[in-house]
Amino acid sequence: MIISGKDISTQLKDKLKERVEILKKENKRIPKLAVILVGDNQASQVYVRNKERACQYVGIQSQMINREASISEKELIDIIRQLNVDESVDGILVQLPLPKHINEDRILNVIDPLKDVDGFHPSNVAKLFLNQKALTPCTPKGMMVLLDKINYDLEGKEVVVVGRSHIVGKPVSMLCLQKNATVTIAHSHTKNLKEVCKRADVLIGAVGKAKFFNRNYIKKGAVVLDVGINRDENNKLCGDVDFDDVKDIVSYITPVPNGVGPMTITMLLSNTLDAYEQREGL
Ligand code: GUN
Repeated sequence: MIISGKDISTQLKDKLKERVEILKKENKRIPKLAVILVGDNQASQVYVRNKERACQYVGIQSQMINREASISEKELIDIIRQLNVDESVDGILVQLPLPKHINEDRILNVIDPLKDVDGFHPSNVAKLFLNQKALTPCTPKGMMVLLDKINYDLEGKEVVVVGRSHIVGKPVSMLCLQKNATVTIAHSHTKNLKEVCKRADVLIGAVGKAKFFNRNYIKKGAVVLDVGINRDENNKLCGDVDFDDVKDIVSYITPVPNGVGPMTITMLLSNTLDAYEQREGL
């Protein structure tokens, strides 16, 4: 069974759109997301454009801020500080990666945690660890919604997350742990990776390698969530999972494209609306 992140994200966006329409009818302030893009990384440009389009679709205002790769760390910090105190801005997102001369940690630290719609600020990360309510990273949050949509109960299940990034691997592990799964975080140094993955009732592939996981990594009937966005040998978009090789043995799988990806953007909109409601005391 293919989990269509595209269809599910469209349904969710329509619900978010209704929430914004109610605000408009009530003459309330409209939620606003500010997105900062530094440099000319092509993938980042595509992501940022998609985020802007998604905002338009649901009626959230977007403020796009483009700066040359040569911007100084201090100048970037000043932009964020201005957005922090701008009452009309509910969400602030700094598209990653940043140019090498800018320290990502220092930048993410400056974002007001209440406007941190990526959930990357240390205080939001800490809250995720402590099961406290907070803005949650978008891709992991989207994956949990997908599992929810197929009525998958994680309690007592073996989840293997391959990849330990701050954006995906670590936070999704925490969310699965909150749902009482038994979570293994595997990575490039893991021994016997195939055997580890074969234990998984839910395999989360987030390694960034085209078609890395074939059927030798997967237990029959497993649920597979594919976070990769890669190009295959024919320059075609593909995931970390070799979809055609595994599709007959899995119970559910997310495709690439139109799987996890569209959910990420929808969760960004959802986080922006949540931040708005929190700030407005709604
Ligand atoms: N670059 C790749 N993924 C992400 C993400 O989720 N948020 C931001 N800000 N940058 C990214």
